Amino acid sequence: MDRVLSGIRPTGYLHLGNYFGALKNFVRMQEENNCYFFIADYHSLTTHPKPGDLGTNIKNVLVDYLAAGLDPEKCTIYIQSDVPEVCELTLLLAMNVYVGELQRVPSFKEKVRRQPNNVNAGLLTYPILMASDILIHRADKVPVGKDQEQHLELTRDFAQRFNHFYGVDYFKLPVAYNFGDHLVKIPGLDGSTKMSKSDNEASCIFLSDSPELIRKKVMKAVSDSGPTEPGQPKSQAVENLFQLMEAVSSPDTLAFFEEAYQKCEIRYGDMKKQLAEDITSFVAPIHERIMTLRNDDDYLRKVAKLGAEKARESASKTVNDVREIIGIRKL
Ligand code: ADP
Ligand code: TRP
Repeated sequence: MDRVLSGIRPTGYLHLGNYFGALKNFVRMQEENNCYFFIADYHSLTTHPKPGDLGTNIKNVLVDYLAAGLDPEKCTIYIQSDVPEVCELTLLLAMNVYVGELQRVPSFKEKVRRQPNNVNAGLLTYPILMASDILIHRADKVPVGKDQEQHLELTRDFAQRFNHFYGVDYFKLPVAYNFGDHLVKIPGLDGSTKMSKSDNEASCIFLSDSPELIRKKVMKAVSDSGPTEPGQPKSQAVENLFQLMEAVSSPDTLAFFEEAYQKCEIRYGDMKKQLAEDITSFVAPIHERIMTLRNDDDYLRKVAKLGAEKARESASKTVNDVREIIGIRKL
């Protein structure tokens, strides 16, 4: 049985990108694997959330996870900070990670460029914490979107380095995972190639959006003035609409609009109306469950407690093994 793990930072509600990149496959995988899914609240501290917002976002993400189909009976759902063992493993791994290689990580360089006033050490060491999340449960597979590929590569580097340094074969080398042969990237409604709440909230459809809001957002999505000759390549914004349609609509619907585009007969208004309808049908059952779960604090507390117990059991075993390997032994 494979061990599967993934996590999402609690920075707001979950959107379609999170669903297709990280959650959808996970929901399928929980049936046959030993699965861990967590809320990466330590990771979210790099952006200095207000304390009140952090608590609300943790709850919202837990609700979205459950509504999207994660089942606490089938997998371990937990909040990262309920498992402090991950901090110890981060410290221990950090001794064999070099500052230069962390400074060269593309996502770190991007943050330095974007937020020059908040280049905190947590940003630099982010990949070590993420490696600990994964290695602490000795995961084989990590369902994530394409943007996380590099972090997974670093996790493998750190794991391999540890094994080599101590002459053991302890950590497995986890792989980024998605069904099909490529990692998914769901585009934004704003013409950008990635739906992302940290880049632009307006690019996102959240799982908790009402049908009215979905319609409004989709109708406002960026497009262009339409093709003028057959076979004309699509602009990024229009390509995005097609990609979103591919994710939520039937193949027939997609083929219909593709043909209309190729014949220069496409009306983006009609396409958006259809897309809005298909996104709404897709999100509706999840939306409904979100509304119910939001009011059930007792149940949410129970889920978090059970998850923390299961996750700590697995995490503390790894930390004890690692202590032993590196020579921290009882007198
Ligand atoms: P955001 O970019 O909105 O802040 P996160 O960085 O919190 O989202 O992403 C959490 C998870 O969702 C990660 O596994 C990431 O790869 C996945 N993910 C986020 N956006 C997308 C997207 N547009 N397409 C596919 N996967 C995505
Ligand atoms: N870095 C991931 C993100 O920004 C979140 C994350 C933290 C994660 N630890 C993880 C994802 C471990 C998968 C596995 O989306």
